Amino acid sequence: MTKVLTIDGPSGVGKGTISEYLSDELKWNYLNSGALYRAIAWVAINDSLNLNDIIDLEYASKNILFSLKNKKLHISYKNREIGSLIYNEEIAKIASKISSEPKVRESILNLQRSFKKEPGLVAEGRDMGSVIFPEAQLKIFLTASIETRAQRRFKQLKDRKFNVSLPALIKDLNARDKRDKSRDSSPLVIPKGAFLIETDDLTVIEVKKIAKDKVNKTYGTNI
Ligand code: DC
Repeated sequence: MTKVLTIDGPSGVGKGTISEYLSDELKWNYLNSGALYRAIAWVAINDSLNLNDIIDLEYASKNILFSLKNKKLHISYKNREIGSLIYNEEIAKIASKISSEPKVRESILNLQRSFKKEPGLVAEGRDMGSVIFPEAQLKIFLTASIETRAQRRFKQLKDRKFNVSLPALIKDLNARDKRDKSRDSSPLVIPKGAFLIETDDLTVIEVKKIAKDKVNKTYGTNI
């Protein structure tokens, strides 16, 4: 049976850092499901598609090529690598909007499941443990208050010399949380039986250690 580890939680909680760390250490495949929604959002903007037209969005999702390269997600559209273009706040906002559309979610359901391959999969997102991989042996759920998440993002962006305001980031995260939790289709929920890590008072190193110990216990690994 192929092993799956899911890592879910709200925006800006550090899922990416922990998922990447664990997938690298385990040498398992890594699915960052948020990138799929971001890629659809990118194509929608790039091709001036109608964000309210489900046919347009389905067209976008069907024409993006998602594959695993060296165990990591590779995204291309019309022979162009677009994986590096999707990580900005504008795309994040549109991704959040289109991800509440059930047909968009449905259009990438089987694709997401197809990433479950040997020697194992680390899948990160909002509904990995609750909907896409309910069979996962371990479901980690990360939490942190909006203030903590906004502070972390603020620091990250400042370090990269972006001009941002903390209140604007808090407002943004609030809106995204609300949308992610209240949508009808696969809302952000703590999966049944999840292993919860409250990260407010923990450093990244501490979160990694807690997650790693739990992974080793669950899968009998030694990372
Ligand atoms: O994790 P992220 O910020 O890259 O995700 C971008 C958006 O995609 C986020 O606002 C919510 C949505 N998303 C989702 O609905 N379900 C997932 N499994 C992953 C992301």
